[in-house]
Amino acid sequence: MSEPANQRGVQDSQEAAVADASASEQVDSVWCVLLAAGSGQRFGSLKQFDSLAGARVIDHAARPAAAACDGVVAVLPAASLATADGTVTAATVVVAGGETRSESVRAGLAAIPASATVILVHDAARPLATAQLFERVIATVRAGVPAVVPAVRVVDTIRAVDSEASSGTVAGSSSVAGSSSVAGSSSVAGSSSVAGSRVVDRDLLRAVQTPQGFQADLLRRAYAGDAQATDDAGLVEELGQPITLIEGERSNLKLTESADRIIAEALLISAQSAH
Ligand code: CTP
Ligand code: MG
Repeated sequence: MSEPANQRGVQDSQEAAVADASASEQVDSVWCVLLAAGSGQRFGSLKQFDSLAGARVIDHAARPAAAACDGVVAVLPAASLATADGTVTAATVVVAGGETRSESVRAGLAAIPASATVILVHDAARPLATAQLFERVIATVRAGVPAVVPAVRVVDTIRAVDSEASSGTVAGSSSVAGSSSVAGSSSVAGSSSVAGSRVVDRDLLRAVQTPQGFQADLLRRAYAGDAQATDDAGLVEELGQPITLIEGERSNLKLTESADRIIAEALLISAQSAH
């Protein structure tokens, strides 16, 4: 909606004044916390700054957020703020994140003006979410739904294991082949096997995505304490509020491991050529 205001970096989120972008004077505004302060342990590097299909992952994620929202707070690793990584053109303001995802959400919320009535939280590790998805999430919150989560059906057959502990390290392929016909289902390819699992009814499963959207005061209450969660809706649910699922986008994948970048880049190129 609005042009990105002059971007302002804030070194210390504790000192982060409320963003003074023009959107802060607007009543009933929509803001997005764009989370990019993770360390990419499983990916092997700071995936948010990886370049895919001609732009950084964070810039791919920020663009549709800025198109659909009045303001975007990009939450970055503190060490990145003073470097070239710290410039996120589509963001209204950048702040330093915390050790955990939840602390990063809190840092983002602290920089959002009190006038915001709808707040979205989006993982910058999802560079393929479209502006249309943001707009559908926003429209659903505006229609009076307190917490909105995009989700897609699960296509894999899923087995739930009886316990997280595996039954031991399998030394070589012969022992997998030799012992895999025992009761339960054993042998996940790799270095360990699991005995005891059952198929979960796939029709009842949904994989949740971001951007998730909330009535602003509800999200602020959910993060008022020091609870930790990987999922914002989970914290809101603890307040006794219902979570409403809407249709997500199958292409809206999250970069987790480095192999994911190959698929993400192919999808980004395909989306670019469609325009
Ligand atoms: N995130 C964040 N602050 C943290 C941890 C995570 O802002 N302290 C953000 C990540 O940058 C990412 C999103 O939350 O956009 C989802 O997290 P995840 O995919 O787990 O990314 P990382 O934490 O960076 O990866 P890993 O868990 O493999 O280290
Ligand atoms: Mg993580």
